[in-house]
Amino acid sequence: MAVYLNDVSRTFGEYLLIPGLTTKQCVPTNVSLKTSLVKHNVGDKSSIELNIPFVSAIMQSVSGPELAIELARNGGLSFIFGSQPIESQAEMVRRVKKFKAGFVTSDSNLTPENTLADVIDLVNKTEHSTIGITDDGTPNGKLLGLVTSRDYRIEKDDPSTKVKEFMTPFAKLIVGEVGITLKEANQIIWDHKLNTLPIIDKDQNLAYFVFRKDYDSHRENPNEISGADKKLLVGAGINTRDYTERVPALVEAGVDVLCIDSSDGYSEWQYETLQWIKKEYGDKVKVGAGNVVDRDGFLYLVKAGADFIKVGIGGGSICITREQKGIGRGQATALIDVAQARDEYKEQTGIYVPICSDGGLVHDYHMVLALAMGADFLMMGRYFARFDESPTKKLRIGNNFVKEYWGEGSNRAQNWQRYDMGGSASLKFEEGVDSYVPYAGKMKDNLNLTLGKIKATMCSCGAIAIPALQKNAKITLVSSTSIVEGGAHDVILKEQN
Ligand code: IMP
Repeated sequence: MAVYLNDVSRTFGEYLLIPGLTTKQCVPTNVSLKTSLVKHNVGDKSSIELNIPFVSAIMQSVSGPELAIELARNGGLSFIFGSQPIESQAEMVRRVKKFKAGFVTSDSNLTPENTLADVIDLVNKTEHSTIGITDDGTPNGKLLGLVTSRDYRIEKDDPSTKVKEFMTPFAKLIVGEVGITLKEANQIIWDHKLNTLPIIDKDQNLAYFVFRKDYDSHRENPNEISGADKKLLVGAGINTRDYTERVPALVEAGVDVLCIDSSDGYSEWQYETLQWIKKEYGDKVKVGAGNVVDRDGFLYLVKAGADFIKVGIGGGSICITREQKGIGRGQATALIDVAQARDEYKEQTGIYVPICSDGGLVHDYHMVLALAMGADFLMMGRYFARFDESPTKKLRIGNNFVKEYWGEGSNRAQNWQRYDMGGSASLKFEEGVDSYVPYAGKMKDNLNLTLGKIKATMCSCGAIAIPALQKNAKITLVSSTSIVEGGAHDVILKEQN
């Protein structure tokens, strides 16, 4: 038995940063949040760099294609959740790779034989009022017509009316052809006073829609991360069970980086999975592993070939692993320990293996603390689940809007592969909860605020880049009384009266 008597499991809320010298160069506009995603030799650049140090959690309620697109456009990266059939996960990856600003890939279509009732169901489900009508009802089938909310009256029309009786048929549609630029598409929309322009290929198959409303909202995204082919970067979660089939399908779909998703990654199953990937693909396929909470776990997975290591057990907002199994470690303590191991490994080998702090980041200042403690990038679930772009519906509870957020280890997600130990069926107990989070609006608006705060704190610490923050940050522990001192105190707040 090893008892870590001097090891207190500490978390972010127990620390503060002590300011360093803020030189005149230290202004937010000079701060770079660029960071390495995968391992590289010291002195070289990582083959995948993020422009902001954020990745979204490998979770059903967080990382779908819409969020992945928006995050990549803002400089971070999503890992599309792996707790779904291989083909649907690969399809989500393809949707991100196919993304072209202003060109929308339809997620669901109908056929002419469907009914008005089917149209109403689909509109309620997707909240999109334009439906492509294709020969087989698939998003990329042969385009036969279009239905919009102007084509039917819910109260008056018979729900069993066939779509073919009220759709606008293909012969009457104005369409664009694949290869058209956004500027040209917008010109057609303008000239013909259209709301939607379907874009088809040479065989009349539906490729995209361009919507009138996107015309104004087409924005500049200077932080966007894309490959040499200009396609957005996207990651995907995998498990240690079906990787021999899942990995090839994801690679075929164009995924840029993989991550083994597990609550406890210090296992021979992860070792074998990493070795298989490296044997099959060499360095062409990048794969992260975890989660670990100490140097032993870090070194084990690095030896197996991991390209980055994820740190954190039990700190996630929806996580009950510590209560259920009694394993884990305070996130700050885990991170500091693993970052030291990473730095020593770098000194010994000349190889830098990035680490990711996963779970438990609640306040924006926690994010700077995690970076200062050595994290190269941060994985967040709750933070992203609150935004319009997450895959869940916005609901109203009383006067508040919320979004649903559930753990991968909850009965709802049923992602037992993330927790099982080689396939034992008896281990299916919950390690996560099903919950709501406050709805927070558009990702971009929230990111601007969060990143603004991170940059301001970095300037206070005298650092205009993440490596400098990691090297020079001064961190202090706080007492419970100083936490009280840190909030508004001994005043009567006006908004409470
Ligand atoms: P959050 O950002 O604090 O919400 O934490 C998100 C992280 O919690 C994820 O990236 C996972 O590492 C972890 N996680 C996701 N689902 C579960 C679960 O059901 N139980 C325990 N941890 C989970």
